[in-house]
Amino acid sequence: MQMWGYASLGLVALLAACGGKGSSANDTDDGCTTNCSPTGANGDDSGDGGDTVGAESDADDGATEGDPDDGSGDGTPSAAGIPCDVAEVLAANCWSCHAQTPQFGASMPLTTFDDFQVPAPSDATRPVHELVAQRVTSDAMPMSADGSLSEPDRATLVDWVAGGALESDAQCSDPDPDPDPDPGVGPDALPCEVTQTFTAHANGGADDPFDVPLVDNLYQCFTFSSPLETETHISAWAPIVDDARVLHHWILYKTSEPQVDGGVGPCNMPGDAAFIAGWAPGGENFLMPDGVGLEFGGPSDSYILQIHYNNTAGYNDAADNSGVAFCTTPPKQETAGVLWLGTEDISIPVDAVGHEETGVCPAQATELLPGPLNIIASFPHMHQLGRALKTEIYRGGPGGTMETLVDANPFSFDNQVMYPHDPPVVLNPGDELVTQCTFDNTYGVPVNFGEDTEDEMCFNFIMAYPIQALPPQARVCTF
Ligand code: HEC
Repeated sequence: MQMWGYASLGLVALLAACGGKGSSANDTDDGCTTNCSPTGANGDDSGDGGDTVGAESDADDGATEGDPDDGSGDGTPSAAGIPCDVAEVLAANCWSCHAQTPQFGASMPLTTFDDFQVPAPSDATRPVHELVAQRVTSDAMPMSADGSLSEPDRATLVDWVAGGALESDAQCSDPDPDPDPDPGVGPDALPCEVTQTFTAHANGGADDPFDVPLVDNLYQCFTFSSPLETETHISAWAPIVDDARVLHHWILYKTSEPQVDGGVGPCNMPGDAAFIAGWAPGGENFLMPDGVGLEFGGPSDSYILQIHYNNTAGYNDAADNSGVAFCTTPPKQETAGVLWLGTEDISIPVDAVGHEETGVCPAQATELLPGPLNIIASFPHMHQLGRALKTEIYRGGPGGTMETLVDANPFSFDNQVMYPHDPPVVLNPGDELVTQCTFDNTYGVPVNFGEDTEDEMCFNFIMAYPIQALPPQARVCTF
């Protein structure tokens, strides 16, 4: 476990980064009974069977939520007034978040003609359609369901806005405005028994949900003491998506610094916080390969669930029990863990477009491996200015054959997902890993590496086994 701790030095910074600083969680009551221990305390809301968008958890909006069709009231297509080709692009790329009841922290719906004419949430002097054109072009924060808006789709949106975002009276068939959530995601879709859950909760760790205030960009940390009696591995995990309207993304960390059980507070990440699992819209259940367990920890560890909420849309009844469900197992034959690639050496000049920073995990470091390492997932992580991240493997060192491990292009901060590698990508001793991040600086000031949201990061966390084979100094490989 020491190795893990060491590794986290870097990690720490990084993930904590998102969290901002502040006083530590200072909660008193440690009655963490249900939330931090087993079995589906939240299973009912969580997710499969077509409810991952959290419709049922939000009683007050019951009538309209999640289904833009409801809004039209008279059976006309929900997208009435929007030209058919535009509605199709929106349905495929935007409505998973910008639904009639906006989901995952999106600030407004984009399902009716009127939705495009009203003042934008972030700038009341401009109509929404203007910001739409801005956000789908490459020099602004990119937006779309999987981070990849095709050129023709982008052009369809941009052209419509450029022509004045005019109303259309075409009768087109209604593109399905409420795409079915993936039934394969959520605790109920796991092929194993859920034995541990970590979820957002009210102060004191009660079953009660966390009341999500009316703010943008809230990083909230929920703390737990270890529910584990012995060293334990994870065999699978699933996201629990409760109040999907305001849930933007979450990351679960492990730390050896004791945490209040059932605590809620601002995020103040300990120096050894290590990434265990993370989720953003589009993220899926994760199953470890047969015979491989992911390091989870033991009785002396604590856990921190860091959740990013975005309640820009202004739901005053937002209440959340989101988090993560694990199937655990006694240690398996092979141990998987997380190591970091990328760089902390970041300095992005004012107005730079397509600025690149590169981090190398050199052959001299991978030569320390006693044998091949199997990489089973990548989790690219940057902040708001990140446009693309890729990791390439050079076989046998610089100049060797190149293989792409992951190419997240475009990267979207609003949609950071884990990329599984199945079958695993094998890293051999002596291979070199090069991670390159691309940034567009729209802030008007130079931007450097740092932990705050206005700073930047360039990391690819990779999950690999056998991790115990890796010397501690090689778990953070960011040169
Ligand atoms: C994965 C969820 C998701 C998808 C898919 C998505 N968005 Fe967003 N969108 C967000 C979130 C979260 C915000 C608020 C935070 C921010 O501004 O980045 C947002 C904000 C916006 C804004 C800014 C509004 C303002 O007032 O500043 C625009 C414009 C926008 N989205 C347009 C789009 C368009 C057009 C699409 C489809 C091509 C799309 N989005 C797809 C999540 C999403």
